[in-house]
Amino acid sequence: MFISLEGTEGSGKTTQGRALAAALGEHAPPVLLTREPGGTELGERVRHTLLALDGPHLDPVTQLLLLSAARAQLVREVLLPALGRGETVLCVRYADSTRAYQGGGDGIPAPAIEDAIALATGGLEPDLTIYLDLDPEEGLRRRERARGEGAVGAEEGWNSFDARSLEFHRRVREAYLRVAREHPHRIVVVDAAQPFEAVRAEVLQAVLSRYSSHRAGGTTR
Ligand code: TYD
Repeated sequence: MFISLEGTEGSGKTTQGRALAAALGEHAPPVLLTREPGGTELGERVRHTLLALDGPHLDPVTQLLLLSAARAQLVREVLLPALGRGETVLCVRYADSTRAYQGGGDGIPAPAIEDAIALATGGLEPDLTIYLDLDPEEGLRRRERARGEGAVGAEEGWNSFDARSLEFHRRVREAYLRVAREHPHRIVVVDAAQPFEAVRAEVLQAVLSRYSSHRAGGTTR
């Protein structure tokens, strides 16, 4: 089974992703936890380039193509082989991030976004997507707080996307909510303003109920 975890900035994807992977390790092992951009050597390099605050200004189309290149590699090198072995795959961010950030945030037209996603993924779609929804103002406040307290590592710290305007992040959230409305069966929206433990429980419950119907359906993924 292939699960993606999506969310706006500061919604707790990374921490919730780790918690979910640990829980799934008991219910649906083995579990492969990966992330985008990243998950392969190329992906981690692309991540570094894209998130650097001191790097060159990258045009949104360049970003779309870099993210797509990293995704193409991740799908073929990591995701498809793991799914083929019957593993549970959890990916923190996947194609919906592109719809939300490059589509909603940067305004790249939907047909170009969908073409890039189709080419990179070869049609591989998550069986279930959890979207952690949080008002961007609150999300950025949380990030600022964590940064001030030195509570986050460099990789989870302030990046070039966090540094974009509040308006940008509002458009990202609107796009996520629109995509969720368009895919009500695949995408479960979870209110990330709740306490961590409540979010964790809701996410796990959504995943486990989908997992059992998956198994009942006899799917190997
Ligand atoms: P990350 O640290 O994983 O996310 P967050 O800052 O929410 O903890 O950073 C990844 C950044 O990459 C994030 O700001 C969103 C951006 N991104 C896109 O713009 N498009 C994409 O397709 C993906 C996968 C990520």
